[in-house]
Amino acid sequence: MAHQLLKGRKGLIFGALNDKSIAWKVAELAVAEGAEIVLTNTPVSIRLGEINRLAEQCGTIVIPADATSVADLEALVDGTMEHFGGKFDFVLHAVAMSPNIRKGRPYTDVNYDFFQKTVDISAMSFHKLLQTLYKKDALNEWGSVVALSYIAADRAMPGYNDMADAKAMLQSITRNFGLIYGREKHVRINTVSQSPTMTTAGQGIDGMTEMVGYADRISPLGNATAEDCAGYVITLFSDLTRKVTMQNLYHDGGYSSLLPVME
Ligand SMILES: NC(=O)c1ccc[n+]([C@@H]2O[C@H](COP(=O)([O-])OP(=O)(O)OC[C@H]3O[C@@H](n4cnc5c(N)ncnc54)[C@H](O)[C@@H]3O)[C@@H](O)[C@H]2O)c1
Repeated sequence: MAHQLLKGRKGLIFGALNDKSIAWKVAELAVAEGAEIVLTNTPVSIRLGEINRLAEQCGTIVIPADATSVADLEALVDGTMEHFGGKFDFVLHAVAMSPNIRKGRPYTDVNYDFFQKTVDISAMSFHKLLQTLYKKDALNEWGSVVALSYIAADRAMPGYNDMADAKAMLQSITRNFGLIYGREKHVRINTVSQSPTMTTAGQGIDGMTEMVGYADRISPLGNATAEDCAGYVITLFSDLTRKVTMQNLYHDGGYSSLLPVME
């Protein structure tokens, strides 16, 4: 049921690869809630994934960009402003990748070139994006930026590998940039710490199926799905959350407040 929470708002959404992606669900719901959006992903993900189908469904365009490239981000923000005819209101960063996870390297035997890639794609890209938006003054006052995190940023969970460290950095960037952007432009920046979710990125993590089942059993409300996540993110883009910023917001059916008890 749509409430037109984003009526008249414009936003940029990173990370829709296929219809399992959290960003895909956010894009669909943003449009259902009255927003206009622009989609982006890497050229290879656009080619191998299904984002063009989503763009058609949402009546919009896809602008290719590698989130680790400042030049790409500058062209993306310029292209988005051109498409909208000016500034916009919200941004979703749903971007992550760990070559160490992909190649099955355990946390005690990571490849450091891979580690740097993990950090660049999954955390530093967020700083690059925020800096580009800030320098170009691309966001309207009271705009909202959301990135997606995971509880391994806050608790020891070596199975999540170097992505845990990248997510901790992502949350730190959220606080530090949030302070400046909030004071100067009333732009709010938050991370949503989502339940384990069976997406393409999620499925790459060692022991993911067990983790999803375990979290679902012990969380009082069960795991939050990608659709649930979209609902929460839309509230953060809406005017109903204008004073929420610099937060890591758990969206996990209560999991993060439990003692780690054995079943
Ligand atoms: N799936 C989970 O269990 C879970 C839980 C918590 C947080 N998250 C986070 O949610 C976000 C979205 O992931 P998802 O689970 O929907 O998986 P997904 O695989 O559908 O999305 C990941 C996206 O990152 C994009 N990407 C990778 N490298 C990029 C780059 N250099 N530039 C631009 N885009 C790039 C991919 O193309 C893909 O679209 C990620 O930040 C992920 O860490 C996922």
